Amino acid sequence: MCGIFAYLNFHANKERRYILEILFNGLRRLEYRGYDSAGIAIDDSSTISSPPLVFRQAGNIESLVNSVNEEITNTDLNLDEVFYFHAGIAHTRWATHGEPAPRNSHPQSSGPGDDFLVVHNGVITNYEVLKETLVRHGFTFDSDTDTEVIPKLAKFVFDKANEEGEQTVQFCEVVFEVMRHLEGAYALIFKSWHYPNELIACKLGSPLLLGVKVSNSLSLESRGTFHCSRHSLRLLAWNSVELLQIITLFFRLAFSLTGSKSFGFELDQGKSNSHVFQDAHFLSKNDHPKEFFLSSDPHALVEHTKKVLVIEDGEVVHLKDGGVTILKSENERGRRNGISRIASVERALSVLEMEVEQINKGKYDHYMQKEIHEQPESLTTTMRGRLIRGGSRKTKTVLLGGLKDHLKTIRRSRRIVFIGCGTSYNAALASRPILEELSGIPVSMEIASDLWDRQGPIYREDTAVFVSQSGETADTLLALDYARENGALCVGITNTVGSSIARKTHCGVHINAGAEIGVASTKAYTSQIVVMVMLALAIGSDTISSQKRREAIIDGLLDLPYKVKEVLKLDEEMKDLAQLLIDEQSLLVFGRGYNYATALEGALKVKEVALMHSEGILAGEMKHGPLALVDENLPIAVIATRDACFSKQQSVIQQLHARKGRLIVMCSKGDAASVSSSGSCRAIEVPQVEDCLQPVVNIVPLQLLAYHLTVLRGHNVDQPRNLAKSVTTQ
Ligand code: F6R
Repeated sequence: MCGIFAYLNFHANKERRYILEILFNGLRRLEYRGYDSAGIAIDDSSTISSPPLVFRQAGNIESLVNSVNEEITNTDLNLDEVFYFHAGIAHTRWATHGEPAPRNSHPQSSGPGDDFLVVHNGVITNYEVLKETLVRHGFTFDSDTDTEVIPKLAKFVFDKANEEGEQTVQFCEVVFEVMRHLEGAYALIFKSWHYPNELIACKLGSPLLLGVKVSNSLSLESRGTFHCSRHSLRLLAWNSVELLQIITLFFRLAFSLTGSKSFGFELDQGKSNSHVFQDAHFLSKNDHPKEFFLSSDPHALVEHTKKVLVIEDGEVVHLKDGGVTILKSENERGRRNGISRIASVERALSVLEMEVEQINKGKYDHYMQKEIHEQPESLTTTMRGRLIRGGSRKTKTVLLGGLKDHLKTIRRSRRIVFIGCGTSYNAALASRPILEELSGIPVSMEIASDLWDRQGPIYREDTAVFVSQSGETADTLLALDYARENGALCVGITNTVGSSIARKTHCGVHINAGAEIGVASTKAYTSQIVVMVMLALAIGSDTISSQKRREAIIDGLLDLPYKVKEVLKLDEEMKDLAQLLIDEQSLLVFGRGYNYATALEGALKVKEVALMHSEGILAGEMKHGPLALVDENLPIAVIATRDACFSKQQSVIQQLHARKGRLIVMCSKGDAASVSSSGSCRAIEVPQVEDCLQPVVNIVPLQLLAYHLTVLRGHNVDQPRNLAKSVTTQ
């Protein structure tokens, strides 16, 4: 739930000013992950190995920047000082243990002297036990965080190894020993002045990426490190594995004999680490990596490099002397019987498919506003290449590459279970009716945390569909592990390529909505629905009787971006409505059928960003309780667009009118007059589309309403109080 970032320059002259700016910018990009407090650690001196400078501040990144600038002015710290090597770490926090305060901010320290500093995203569940042990060994604690045990444990391990007179213990050995004792979820970056110009990162459960920026200018002679270029570039320490020495020698020989830079080879290092590398070549003098970045997500990397490595659970990434060594303990969790063997791991770098423009606000004031308005484009991207004319009769059909080998198994499932949290759950709920209709398979809904709490039944014959924008939500991941253990086929629907959910599921579909930075999910919601409608079409594609219906939906999908563009024209009208609601305490939203999800999602948007109480209510339940709330003061939005539930919603409107309810009715184009004739209310007309796609259109005015209400009420749109984008803790 926090954001961690690090920058290491190797053999590259960089001023302190530049290094600070890189760290601050990295944090700005990650700020949506948590904005309670922040901190950085940088080197004090470019010449001697000495305790680093640590800055920690409560509040957002700009508070940290201001406090660092103030300190620099007060202490005459030289911003022009040049560092040939430098390792800096940074953190932006969403508080889980301890209030937002400098002492609870990261980097957390091993104690006086700051021998070891750590930034952490995740939660250490056994920190109390570790703390007790460390206290018994004389450590004192300054913070309320779970993280503080980590640097202290590192110091304990380091001191013990030195006392025992071992040869200088290696940084990665210290970290492995620390990891062996940790339980919970973490992405960690370690810095220590005992190991100047080195950084170590490791993870279990929380996301972490390494970015490598290759410089084209002359630099250090390659130390036998080699990499693979094009789509995969791999770096490995020269001496780590004998096999690699042999391969490297082979390439060196081949290189000198042929003068060619390009070879292909296959390296098999055991079942899970087998890769085919193409166009492999030595790291030449011309492209030695000089800058490394570690980050919780790609947003902070893309402006520096597109070459990234998604770090896997249990891996330890050691940045040292311009090389990267990736190590993994034999026992992934590193707990049982100690770590018997630490092996080097073969890993390929991926190329980020993300542009810097995607993570800027452009002409908009806020990310949420930008993301609402870019839905016509994000929906187009979601559908690109997936709606085709196929088969002998060239009928319109859906092609979901990530699922094609699993469709038969899904069709044979006894049940499909949708699992997700918050907005992702709502998107699944909106898609449930069409999936039931087209597949004929019972579809059940599970909020991830509830499934886990109940240990609800999941069977081998189930298909479990995990819906998550980030692909990193801890609750959803736990439910995924649980479903896998129970033998279900696990399908992932996420926006984040390489995310934990994308990697842990058996198959899946990326929604391709582009980076979503506003904490309130908007464009991911509509793209998720579209993907799940396509999923329903794909599963039902072998049923002749529903052919016409499917074709109508596909036509509707193709037209959907235009309809969303049309509904976005309601922007001013929704701002006007927001103005009317600005001082209200509460807003109820009634929906049913396909639009029960719209009611839940609309209410979630209003409550999370505008900080106004709002509740989505299934209209069929109105008479069973909520009707008691209705009076002439409470504003109530009713979704009554045309579909199979239309007449039932008309009767709901009548009943609300009869109780003098203050109504806002969302209706299909052309229905405003009849809606208003039955009693006083404000009508919002939206274009009518296929029933299963109507939730995509209907949510847009509610997103706009939530956005404008937030701005008018003076709240932070992109960083709602107490929330953060990716909930990686339980
Ligand atoms: C609300 C919102 C959250 C997320 C939820 C799940 O706007 O964004 O409710 O939908 O935290 O997150 P993901 O989809 O990343 O699993």
